[in-house]
Amino acid sequence: MKPTMKFPALMLTSESVEKADADVKHNRCLLTSVELDRDDLGADGVLVQVIYSALNYKDALAASGHTGVVRKFPLIPGIDAVGKVIESNGSGFRLGDEVLIAHAKFGTSHHGGFSSFARVPADWLVKLPVGLSLEDAAAWGTAGFTAAQSVGQLLNHGVSPESGEILVTGATGGVGVFAVQLLAKLGFSVTASTGKLDRYEQLLALGAEKVVPREEVVDLSDSPLTKSRWAGVVDCVGGTTLNSAIRATQVGGCVTACGLVSGHEVGLTVYPFILRGIVLCGIDSANVSQKYRQELWDVIGSDWSLDLRNVSQEVTLSQLPDQIERILNGSVFGRIVVRMPE
Ligand SMILES: NC(=O)c1ccc[n+]([C@@H]2O[C@H](COP(=O)([O-])OP(=O)(O)OC[C@H]3O[C@@H](n4cnc5c(N)ncnc54)[C@H](OP(=O)(O)O)[C@@H]3O)[C@@H](O)[C@H]2O)c1
Repeated sequence: MKPTMKFPALMLTSESVEKADADVKHNRCLLTSVELDRDDLGADGVLVQVIYSALNYKDALAASGHTGVVRKFPLIPGIDAVGKVIESNGSGFRLGDEVLIAHAKFGTSHHGGFSSFARVPADWLVKLPVGLSLEDAAAWGTAGFTAAQSVGQLLNHGVSPESGEILVTGATGGVGVFAVQLLAKLGFSVTASTGKLDRYEQLLALGAEKVVPREEVVDLSDSPLTKSRWAGVVDCVGGTTLNSAIRATQVGGCVTACGLVSGHEVGLTVYPFILRGIVLCGIDSANVSQKYRQELWDVIGSDWSLDLRNVSQEVTLSQLPDQIERILNGSVFGRIVVRMPE
């Protein structure tokens, strides 16, 4: 008989509560520390000891019970996890193999990474690239992977360092810091826009050539086009920022869109597309093939490797709920990596 080994996790539950001033019930979500047994994760798939997880904006939405993100209750949130294979179950992985877990369902409709163990289908695993430590892989995580996808799309669409300035919005966020650093490494001239006046020096140290207040890249006029300014844009925030960036992109430029922290509506005319040939490229890190995932991770571990000393901070599982509040109000710089209890 297998020994019972309890391990810690954060569990999201939903309960129906009555409002004091009305007859209607509504749902309240609670994120609590729990102790689980390995059997609670089911029996099928590969069992991974999670060494590090990380906090993404999407996790914070999940932890708040956002119905667009959470697909089941109770749920262990956490869309990022890196660790070691503990039970292979005939998957072809060997015990001790270092892996990343990445799949659209992980941490949304299947128990995720805010736990010392995770059990997932073998095809959700990516082999840890040679040259990347478990800690650095967690720091990159979904946010860094999304930045790499975005930069890859600018390159695919012919944007080169000679094309001109690249704008990165939400530059101090998880996606933003990786985009700034990666673009600078590849020789691009990067303008970072941010709402954090006290983080300019850190963005310059990551390689940004200019740092501007986020209001400076927003144009609230109704002009369908504004003065050409950007050869490419990595937009992490959506809304009026994305709208303004598209209208200020030069002929043949490319804009990538991955986020919505500033708003989910864009409200544009067709003029940037038909008069300047701008390409708007949606970035969806969740629904890519595992082959593409492995290939991009291998590039991240080699040609695109970065010095991550100044872009992540480590917290414990019990400190995570406070960090969730911070990421929701936009005050985090870079990435929060979660070191799991052994
Ligand atoms: N499509 C995908 O596959 C994918 C993958 C990963 C992330 N995402 C999305 O991409 C976005 C960024 O993710 P992240 O991990 O970088 O999140 P994050 O770490 O929370 O960073 C978001 C950054 O946006 C800026 N910001 C916050 N509130 C804002 C507002 N009201 N208006 C303008 N800017 C604001 C802040 O940076 P400054 O203070 O520097 O401006 C903040 O640090 C999120 O919406 C996330 O859900 C999508």
